[in-house]
Amino acid sequence: MIRKKSYGHPFDTEAVVGSYTPLDGPLPFLTEEGGGRFSCPLDEDAVVYGLGENVRGINKRGWIYESVCSDDPNHREDTRSLYGAHNFLVVDGARRFGVFVDYPGKVTFDVGYTDGSVLTIQTEEPDLALYLIDGDSPEDIVRQFRTLVGRSYIPPKWAFGYGQSRWSYMNADEVREVAARYREAGIPLDAIYLDIDYMEGYKDFTVNRNAFPDLSGLAAELKEQGIRLVPIIDAGVKIEPGYPVYEEGVRQGCFCKDEDGSDFVAAVWPGRVHFPDVLNEEARRWFGGYYKVLLEQGIEGFWNDMNEPAIFYSEQGLENAFSQIDAYRTENLDIHTYGALQGLVAGLKNSPEDYRSFYHRHKDGLVRHDRVHNLYGYNMTRAAGEAMEALEPEKRILLFSRSSYIGMHRYGGIWTGDNLSWWSHILLNLQMMPSLNMCGFLYTGADLGGFGGDTTEDLLLRWMALGIFTPLMRNHSATGTRRQELYRFPHVVAFRQIVSLRYVLLPYLYSEYMKAALGNGMYFRPLAFAYPEDAFARRVEDQLMVGESVMIAPVYQQHARGRYVYLPERMKLVRFGGSHQAGQNVLETVQEELLEPGHHYIDVALDEVVFFLRPGHLVPVSQGGGCVADVDFTHLKLLGYPEDGCSYELYDDDGFRRDYDTPAHITRIYVDSSGVIHTEGTGGKDVQWL
Ligand code: GLC
Repeated sequence: MIRKKSYGHPFDTEAVVGSYTPLDGPLPFLTEEGGGRFSCPLDEDAVVYGLGENVRGINKRGWIYESVCSDDPNHREDTRSLYGAHNFLVVDGARRFGVFVDYPGKVTFDVGYTDGSVLTIQTEEPDLALYLIDGDSPEDIVRQFRTLVGRSYIPPKWAFGYGQSRWSYMNADEVREVAARYREAGIPLDAIYLDIDYMEGYKDFTVNRNAFPDLSGLAAELKEQGIRLVPIIDAGVKIEPGYPVYEEGVRQGCFCKDEDGSDFVAAVWPGRVHFPDVLNEEARRWFGGYYKVLLEQGIEGFWNDMNEPAIFYSEQGLENAFSQIDAYRTENLDIHTYGALQGLVAGLKNSPEDYRSFYHRHKDGLVRHDRVHNLYGYNMTRAAGEAMEALEPEKRILLFSRSSYIGMHRYGGIWTGDNLSWWSHILLNLQMMPSLNMCGFLYTGADLGGFGGDTTEDLLLRWMALGIFTPLMRNHSATGTRRQELYRFPHVVAFRQIVSLRYVLLPYLYSEYMKAALGNGMYFRPLAFAYPEDAFARRVEDQLMVGESVMIAPVYQQHARGRYVYLPERMKLVRFGGSHQAGQNVLETVQEELLEPGHHYIDVALDEVVFFLRPGHLVPVSQGGGCVADVDFTHLKLLGYPEDGCSYELYDDDGFRRDYDTPAHITRIYVDSSGVIHTEGTGGKDVQWL
C-alpha cells in the first residue's frame, strides 16, 4: 500500500507517474518532527536498503548520505554525495516500509550515523511530498515503488554488448585502430565511445572536422563491423558568436538566468558556457531537438555528462577570487592566509553560492537553481529521451547520463561516474547495483577497469568478470592514465574468453533485464531478497543475485586466488574460462560442480569466471559472437538441473523496436521429469542441453 503526504508547497518533480491524493492523518512508521525532519528508530537487526548511487554497502546503515548531485571524482568511504539523488530507501526491521522523499533540493539521510539506532531524514526546506509504502517484503515494497515511478528505460539490444571508451580517442584513425585491434584480438565489441575531443572546441552538436572529417562515413563503416559510435554531450553550451546553438539559445531565451534576467555564465570544458534551462518545457524541446544533428550522421547512442551541472567557475566567482588573490599579493602568507589562498581557487568549482545564483523558468514560476538542483541531469536526459521518442518513434536509442534523480530512469540509464582503478571500487560497483535497481535505474554500470588512476591487468580481469553481468558494460578511463583497451595486455585470450562469455550469457541477461524492466522488478538483487528467511543472507555484502537463476560472487581483492562464498541453498557452481587454446569457444570450457548450502572457499583463477545456479532454475545461453548482431538467439543451449523439472520464461525481441509488450516475445521453456526440454511460444526457439 502506498500513502502520500504533502508538506508546504512541494515542487512538482514529475518523478511519480499518476496522481495520488495526499493523506491527512498522521504518518505511519515515521515520526514527523516538523521543518522537513522525520525520524524512526532502527532496531538492532534492521537493514536499510536503497539510496541508489552512493558509497558504502548494500546495507546503508552507519553513514550519513546527502542528496546533492555532485561532480565529485572522489568516491571515498566518507563521501556523502555522488552524481545522483535517489531519495528512496527501505527499512527492513521490526518496522518494514519504504519511503520516497520527493524533494528536488538537498536531503540528508542520517542512517544511524549520529545515533546508531535512529534514522533521520531532513530536507533543506519543508516543502515536499513523502510516499510511504508498506508491503510483505522489501522486494514487494520495491515493486510497488517502481510502479509508482514508472517503467525503466530500455536500451537497444546492441547496448548490452561490450563498449570501449577513453577520454579521448582523438581522431577517426584512432577509433578505427581500436576497432581493428579488438577484431584482430577476437574480443567482441559493440560500441566505441567518443569523449569530448570529437567536438570542435567542446561545442555540443559539433564535430571537429579535422579529426573526424566524415563522421557519418565512419559511423557507417564501423556499423558494418557491428560497432556503434557513442558520442558524449555536455550540459554547458559554449558562448561563442556564430555558434548556432549558442545564438539560437540566447535568441529564444532557452538558457538559465541570472537574478537580473541575463543569461547565467558559468565555465566548463570550453570555458564560458550557458546552461540550457531544461526545467522549462520549451527549452527542453529546443535542446533535445539538437540530438538530431548527430542522429542524422548515423549515431544511435549518447552519454550525457557534466549535468549536475558541473561548474568549474562562474563569472562572478572568478571575479571575486581574482580580486581577493590580488589582495594577498603583498602579504606574508602564513598557514591561515596560505590556506585561504588555496581555498579561493579550490572553492571556485561547484560552489554552492553559484548554484544559488541562477534561475529556471519552470511552468510554476521562476525557481532558484539550488532549490531544484537535483533535477538538472534528469531533465537534460529527459530532453534527449523525449526528442528520441519524437525523432525515432520506432527505434530504441542508447542514452545514459551521469547525473540523475528518480524519474530520469524512464528516459535513460546512468553510469556511476569517475571511479578509480582501485580494488575497493570493484566491490563498490557491485554494492551500488541493487541499490540503483531499487530506484529504477536498471541500465547501469561502472567504468570497468577504473576511470582515474592506472589500471593493472589483474584488476581489469577481475573487474571484467563482474562487468559481464552489468547491463552497461563499458571500459572507460581518464586522460593521462594508463591505456586500458583489453588487447594491450599480455593475457588477451583471458580477456577474449571473459568478454565472449558475456555474449554467451546474453539470452539470459537480456531476458532478465527485459522482465525486470517490464515488470518493475530488479535485475540485481541482494541475496536477502531471494532468501528472505535466511538470516545469514541479510549479512552478505559481496554477492548478488542476477535475475532469477544466477548468483554471482566476484573476486575483488588483489592476489586472491579465490574467495569465500555463501550458498543459501544447494547450488551448481558453473566455471568458464581458464583455457589458453586460442581458438576455443568459451562455452567448451564449462565445468560444473554441485555444492551443498553453507560456506565454501572457491578457487577462481584470474582467467576464469564463476557463478552459481539455483536449483529448479535455468539459464539459456548462446554460442556467443563478435557483436550482439552475431549472436544467435534462436538456437539456444540450456544450463541447469536436468533432473529437476523446472521452467524458465524467456523474453526476446528484435532489440530495436519499442514493441516490448507483444506476447510473442515470450517463450516458455520447461524440462519434464525425464529431463526432456519443451518450449511453448511463437518465437521459434530451439533449446538443447549444453
Ligand atoms: C567527466 C566524465 C568522464 C569523461 C570526462 C571528459 O569526468 O565523468 O567520464 O571522460 O568528463 O569528458
